[in-house]
Amino acid sequence: MTTTITLTGAGGQIGYALLFRIAAGDLLGPDEPVRLRLLEIPQGLGAAEGAALELQDGAFGLLEHVEVTDDPAVGFDGADLALLVGARPRGPGMERGDLLAANAGIFGPQGAAIAAHAASGVRVTVVGNPANTNALIAAASADGVPAERFTALTRLDENRARAQVAQTLSVPVDEVRQVIIWGNHSATQFPDLSQATVAGQSALDALSTTVGDVRAWQEDSFIPRVAGRGAEVIQVRGSSSVASAASATIDHVRDWVLGSEEWTSAGVVSHGEYGVPEGLISSFPVRSENGSWQIVEGLEIGEWARARIDASVAELLDEREAVRALGML
Ligand code: NAD
Ligand code: LMR
Repeated sequence: MTTTITLTGAGGQIGYALLFRIAAGDLLGPDEPVRLRLLEIPQGLGAAEGAALELQDGAFGLLEHVEVTDDPAVGFDGADLALLVGARPRGPGMERGDLLAANAGIFGPQGAAIAAHAASGVRVTVVGNPANTNALIAAASADGVPAERFTALTRLDENRARAQVAQTLSVPVDEVRQVIIWGNHSATQFPDLSQATVAGQSALDALSTTVGDVRAWQEDSFIPRVAGRGAEVIQVRGSSSVASAASATIDHVRDWVLGSEEWTSAGVVSHGEYGVPEGLISSFPVRSENGSWQIVEGLEIGEWARARIDASVAELLDEREAVRALGML
């Protein structure tokens, strides 16, 4: 059966990096045909139409159809997967509240259009920032669609964290597992190594032989590096991460749809797990079973970790309050 995938912001940078990987079968596998719906705002239609021409020229056997539109009703029609990448970037002089308001104006109507037009089993992944709160707004506006179907991308943070550990230990990144990202996709996030393994052994033990005081290394080096990586890329590259973000989006959606025995991290709705207030979309350790994310429960959280999780969750609560104060939630 053909899977219908809606991509918002399809004329943007991440969109361009995502489209060709989806068409090549990296998302759902080499035997799964896809139909793409590219949703843009009028200013972005030309770039999305150009990408559609190139998709045609790629002669991808799995790609059945591409449609470009600026109408959410058309864009989300029959969507099995919705990748919400398009967002309003922070402009000069814009305060955080302005950014939240501008994005609430995008993700509210998109949530409503998803509820009205997408397939009944739609799964939504929000990439556009602020991703967690945008996902919350979309979920709240999507009457009848369970909040569990709305997720925010924190897989890029997890990939970054795994790569930092692998580089520090000079091991292949594939050997580094069970790194958890807690909280918000922002500088307050907590990349947690307490459960992480390297080739099946405790990562913290392996790190202590390399870096010495592993707590100090986490506080002074690892956490700021991972949590600040988005800003580092912006500074070095001159614009925000693109191909790594697209790759993490592929990882997130593929595991969600096809299942993941390994733990990974994703922004999913809280039912109160680990003391995270109900309804927030926060990053947790998750595993995908039968097509839905399950939060890995029962992990022990020490005092040091608790304070870091609480700080990021406090930021998510602030964002939710700010959107509520604007009357948009
Ligand atoms: P970009 O500016 O190149 O592209 C964004 C596109 O979205 C533009 O083409 C724009 O026209 C379109 N758009 C804006 N509003 C829209 C709407 N209402 N409907 C449909 N399309 C709309 O930006 P980019 O580099 O592709 O990044 C996209 C977003 O992803 C940004 O918010 C960025 O901060 C975020 N991001 C998130 C992560 C993550 O890990 N969660 C990582 C990197 C970037
Ligand atoms: C990233 O993590 O690369 C993006 O969310 C961009 C940013 O502002 O950090």
